[in-house]
Amino acid sequence: MRVVLDSGEQDMALDIVIMAAGKGTRMKSDRPKVLHELAGRSLLEHVLHTAGEVAADRVVVVTGHGAEQVESSVRAPNLQFVRQSPQLGTGHAVQQAAPQLHNDGITLILNGDTPLIQAATLRALVDACAGDKLALLTVTLPDATGYGRILRRAAADGTSTVQAIVEHKDATPEQRAITEVYTGAMAAPTALLKAWLARLDNRNAQGEYYLTDVVAFAVTDGVPVVAAQPKRASEVLGVNSPQQLAELERLCQRDQAEALMSAGVRLADPARLDVRGHLQCGVDVGIDVNCVFEGAVSLGHRVRVGANCVIRNAVIGDDAVIHPYTHIDGDTLGVTVGRGSLIGPYARLRPGAVLGAEVHIGNFVEVKNSTLADGAKANHLAYLGDATVGERVNFGAGSITANYDGAKKHRTEIGADVHVGSNCVLVAPVTIGDGATIGAGSTITRQAPAGQLTVVRGRQVSLPTWKRPVKPG
Ligand code: UD1
Ligand code: CA
Repeated sequence: MRVVLDSGEQDMALDIVIMAAGKGTRMKSDRPKVLHELAGRSLLEHVLHTAGEVAADRVVVVTGHGAEQVESSVRAPNLQFVRQSPQLGTGHAVQQAAPQLHNDGITLILNGDTPLIQAATLRALVDACAGDKLALLTVTLPDATGYGRILRRAAADGTSTVQAIVEHKDATPEQRAITEVYTGAMAAPTALLKAWLARLDNRNAQGEYYLTDVVAFAVTDGVPVVAAQPKRASEVLGVNSPQQLAELERLCQRDQAEALMSAGVRLADPARLDVRGHLQCGVDVGIDVNCVFEGAVSLGHRVRVGANCVIRNAVIGDDAVIHPYTHIDGDTLGVTVGRGSLIGPYARLRPGAVLGAEVHIGNFVEVKNSTLADGAKANHLAYLGDATVGERVNFGAGSITANYDGAKKHRTEIGADVHVGSNCVLVAPVTIGDGATIGAGSTITRQAPAGQLTVVRGRQVSLPTWKRPVKPG
């Protein structure tokens, strides 16, 4: 895809370089920094997702530390990797990517550890570059410690122009007082960028090749340097430590909660919601405190979710109520809960649970890879695994399907209107006919005919002459 700039005059390639080779020492982790997760996705996935929204011709990710792990963790169109080893600085990182970049275009450079950056900000930066300027994304921070400072020269008319970036470690006390900082994102005309990269050296406090030195080269070459700002400073916050990761997680969660509330979802407390993936909600959905949604979750109209539920990869039908402390995990198979069903409290729905309308699943009931037709109920202390359960079945307390013989899983077929008493074991493979009743305490190993009572248990006896043993003495 080609970029048509605002001016409409130019049509040039857009390439994106994402720097992700650094170790992330302060994370104190064996995992490469860019693979740490924010709202259920890695930092790098966030940046790639946003990069995807600006439709680049090529996205080049520079890897180094944990390169193989990083490269195998992500997929995106037009994505390629280049390795940087050893890691000699941000300028050196972009040098590795340079051969992959279209000469006639614009290159947008991003940090892999800045996950909240928005597509609108990236577009504004590319527009500011316009193919012939060097555009820097800058922000003003009350405490600029650690960042590269933006050096400006004031003009007679009150404006100022960017002259250079000086890294914190190289800055004089006067320069350190500057609060405008470089965020790590820039857009440059690619041919000029390549020429500047070739001129970098490492004569500085850290002995690194600084990408930021290209600014002074642009000024020397008479190329205008412009600065653009993100809508919110929080967009460019980087992740360098577990503390910063947690801070960004809260920001991200707060934004998601705001978006849900703007769409009409009632959250008992927006500060106590975690969405790690995508949550889609119908009209009049209410979510109590401390719920976690993972992967793709869809809640129908008027669904209510009680406190402390964890729901992953599931579709919940209209008017369903998920009572507190329920765990629903669809994993790769998904879970479907039908219209008007009541689940929990303390219920567990596992992958492949497909529940029809008005199904009731009560406390300490586990359902796995089973289909329950409309109106079926298992209200207390039960296990349904690899079962097909008919309409209006009542599955008693303490009853289970014994689906596993130690080697293979087998299915249990339960017809419509069956009543399974308490404390039964249905040993699969087994079939229970429509309308059958299974007496409490039965262990069922053979087919139970439709419409009949089947009961398998010892006959009750009472021994009138029996004496309880007594302790001697
Ligand atoms: C950099 C900027 C600084 C800016 C700050 C914003 C330079 C010289 N300085 O500093 O002006 O204020 O970002 O956060 O660019 N990386 C590599 N290979 C390397 C070194 C780094 O891929 O050899 C990657 C890191 O993984 C990271 C990014 O580049 O994603 C930034 O590196 P980092 O070391 O954090 O740069 P800063 O010192 O923070
Ligand atoms: Ca950094």
